[in-house]
Amino acid sequence: MTKIEPHPLAMDGKDPKNLRGDLIPRERYYDPDFMKQEWQHLWTKIWHIAGREQQLQETGDYIVHDFLHESVMIVRQRDGSLRGFYNACGHRAARLVWDNSSQDSFFCPYHGWRWGLDGILEACPDQDDFPQGDPVGKSTLVEVRVDTWAGLVWYTMDDDAPGLMDYLEPTPELYKGHQFEKTVRVHWLRIELNANWKFWSDNFNESYHTRVVHPQVPPIIDQDHFTSRYEMFPMGHNRIVQMGRPSLRDRLPEGQPHPFDEQLRTWDIDPDSYPDFETKTMQGWLDLKAAKRKLWKEKGYLHYEHLSDEDLTESPFGVLFPNVAIAPGADSFLVWRWEPHPTDPEKCFFDQWTMAYPVEGMGDFVNRTARQAMELKEAEIDLRVYGDGSSVRDLSDQVVFQDWQLTDGQRTGWHSRGYQEPYFAAQETRVHRFHEVLNDYLAGNAPGRD
Ligand code: FES
Ligand SMILES: [Fe+2]
Repeated sequence: MTKIEPHPLAMDGKDPKNLRGDLIPRERYYDPDFMKQEWQHLWTKIWHIAGREQQLQETGDYIVHDFLHESVMIVRQRDGSLRGFYNACGHRAARLVWDNSSQDSFFCPYHGWRWGLDGILEACPDQDDFPQGDPVGKSTLVEVRVDTWAGLVWYTMDDDAPGLMDYLEPTPELYKGHQFEKTVRVHWLRIELNANWKFWSDNFNESYHTRVVHPQVPPIIDQDHFTSRYEMFPMGHNRIVQMGRPSLRDRLPEGQPHPFDEQLRTWDIDPDSYPDFETKTMQGWLDLKAAKRKLWKEKGYLHYEHLSDEDLTESPFGVLFPNVAIAPGADSFLVWRWEPHPTDPEKCFFDQWTMAYPVEGMGDFVNRTARQAMELKEAEIDLRVYGDGSSVRDLSDQVVFQDWQLTDGQRTGWHSRGYQEPYFAAQETRVHRFHEVLNDYLAGNAPGRD
């Protein structure tokens, strides 16, 4: 097999020499002033994900994205394009809409100004009573920049931010063989948690905790740090590419059914044809690539058409700075987004979107790590509050459930007199990098700007 060359922009994400070595003072995890700095220098500068294009199919469909004290709406226009506006009336700023829906125009509930889908005022009562001039056709809502990538709708509040493709660089190129827009969101979860939002940036920027916290994963995705590839990119995004085969270090007890066997059988490979576990893992993994390459069409995996050998079996996991993670697999596209709570720096919202590719004749999508079958149709949102954890016990088969259980302990640890500077493993370099890029933003030195 040919060795995969990392993207030319990739820095070695396991080499601390690629860091400055900034300290990570713990106040950033709870200080309201730090939270204000983040609003001013980070959240108003980045590109946010508002939702999925799938939610905006018809003219007048809109997504409302509430973020901290701000609210933005993204609207499908009559010409098919997307435009975004702050969710505040141009008359005296009343909020226009409260939740995702579809309308021909936006009627302000306060004095009845009516805004077109294009943000231009269409009508208002007592049109002749404005000494400064009739606002109809002239007054507009304040606009935000909108773009799409991966079937996701993005916007930024910053007129000077780089374009979305430059901001995400080189992510769109890394996954150019995927057909994300064809996926179906089979599971849509949003939960309020008791920890600062950066818990997730830290947690998702390392897999060092996986063996301890998620012991069900290594038999499915190799967690060995010496077989994984670590990358950091100039715009602040990081990723790990782990091998989509069992780890040789983590064995299931003899006789226990192995998820890798199931995967091999799906692609007409007999797991019992290998003399031992090592051969099955290493040769079976190569055989799996070859079988997928050969049989994708006849088995109805049409979304494999442009995938590379790496895309077909490996498990890439990227954190898109600062608050999005993506796992673009051959059969699924997982997206996580985590956002600060509007008033409490020690709370956050966490979204998990499980997207799957429809395969002809397949009724359910099975999430390999959660071992959970989900009907292949668009799911409704499931809104939760973690609280003391008792309200989410039915979600205990989710990998992230195991991470949620860590939030209370991190929150108290960050406040402790026993707090020390983190003592990072090389495989945690990306965590440290995240904080350095955050520091750059807060100092007004966001990457990709003059
Ligand atoms: S605030 Fe909207 S019409 Fe007055
Ligand atoms: Fe985790």
